[in-house]
Amino acid sequence: MLQLNDPILDALLTELAVSEGLHVINPATQETLISLEPSSLKSVDSQIDACSVAQKEWAARSTKERALLLKRWFELLIQHQMALATLMTLEQGKPLRESLAEVTYGSSFVEWFAEEAKRAYGEVIPANKVHQRITTIRQPVGVCAAITPWNFPLAMITRKAAPALAAGCGMVVKPSELTPLTALAAVHLAHLAGIPEHLLSVIVSAQSSEVGELLTGDKRIKKLSFTGSTRVGKILMQQSASTVKAVSMELGGNAPFIVFDDADLDQAVEGLMASKFRNAGQTCVCTNRLYLHRNIKDAFLAKLIPRVEQLKAGNGLEEGNSLGPLISIAAKHRLEVLVEEALAEGAQLLMTPQSLPGHFMPPILLDRVTHQMDIIHHELFGPVLPIVEFTDDDEVIAMANDTEYGLASYFYTESLKRAVRVSEALEYGMVGINEGLISTEVAPFGGIKESGLGREGARQGLDEFLETKYICLGDL
Ligand code: SIN
Repeated sequence: MLQLNDPILDALLTELAVSEGLHVINPATQETLISLEPSSLKSVDSQIDACSVAQKEWAARSTKERALLLKRWFELLIQHQMALATLMTLEQGKPLRESLAEVTYGSSFVEWFAEEAKRAYGEVIPANKVHQRITTIRQPVGVCAAITPWNFPLAMITRKAAPALAAGCGMVVKPSELTPLTALAAVHLAHLAGIPEHLLSVIVSAQSSEVGELLTGDKRIKKLSFTGSTRVGKILMQQSASTVKAVSMELGGNAPFIVFDDADLDQAVEGLMASKFRNAGQTCVCTNRLYLHRNIKDAFLAKLIPRVEQLKAGNGLEEGNSLGPLISIAAKHRLEVLVEEALAEGAQLLMTPQSLPGHFMPPILLDRVTHQMDIIHHELFGPVLPIVEFTDDDEVIAMANDTEYGLASYFYTESLKRAVRVSEALEYGMVGINEGLISTEVAPFGGIKESGLGREGARQGLDEFLETKYICLGDL
């Protein structure tokens, strides 16, 4: 039996375990961690019903009380951080150090929105008729649904659920069937904190398209927040049209990382290591392609290669491993094919990659990649890094922007003028200048173009769960 040395979460896992059901697999060992009872479509319907009742009662509470309960949830997440992180590494694979960082990151949204709960301000608008007074108030959108991915089993839930609850909404969460345990544990802690059980609940299911169809087609659900691929996001948007449901979409990315010839190369290498290899490259904001100015290319690679050689792939629970497994064998094979094709098109390996068992994949640096090669135009989601040489600012900006994606982008320069010019020219929702890790609860996370709609985190994250009501008082 799965044991975390945490009496509260161990008791939960014992309660959830069934002899035959949805198997949760450890991607590092391919062993079954636990079997869970899957939610039937009928039970999802009951969850939505119960959430509708709970949401009305919740919305009627004071913002101070909602804030207090969210704060307690935050404290419990922090108290149980080691068990949550261990569970995350077991079901997702990322090194324990990164899982702990995700617990801190994921909890930070709960703390932030506990504070923001009190700031859902409306407006007093000067009326254009003397006998009228015009105000706006902000009200919760109602019952919401979240569909969340496996790469951040906690943070992608708290980044949606915390603002929803802060605004006075309820939420049913469908986590990836690959990583339901962290979700179940986090939501259990929310209930222990005093957040009503039916207000926030988890759907455990591998029937993703059926559940997606049910959630998008349900009139009781007023808003869908999704993090995942652009392909699935488009399907969910189409399905949501039938009920004119509000949607927030955090979709794919193809992040460029540009190093200009006036950059601090040591800092740029640091930034790239953090941005490219976090979660073994499996994040939407991970660097997908590296652009090096011809004048600094050799010097940069001379600093980068020894750093990449130090990366050690292995079980995330073992000390010293910095690259966990990929989520599936299919993900690894897909990358191997893309690398083979790039090599056939003229790319060159900078280091000889080791052959690793199971879901593990070594870092692969591909030099002499050109913009015409197919690999540049795919979201890689793994430790493979194509490298393109450039000589001119406009040329590199054009290459960086030539994608349907527009989530995160990064560049390194010591020139203030270039920093302003390039950050304004990049067609992305987020730009890191001399910084490779930009995700934080205090800033609006989100993309443009086919990378999504809406923003998460920050003040804007609360807006996603509020409706503005205009009230006109006449006859004065
Ligand atoms: C994601 O990959 O979807 C989220 C990454 C982040 O929050 O930094």
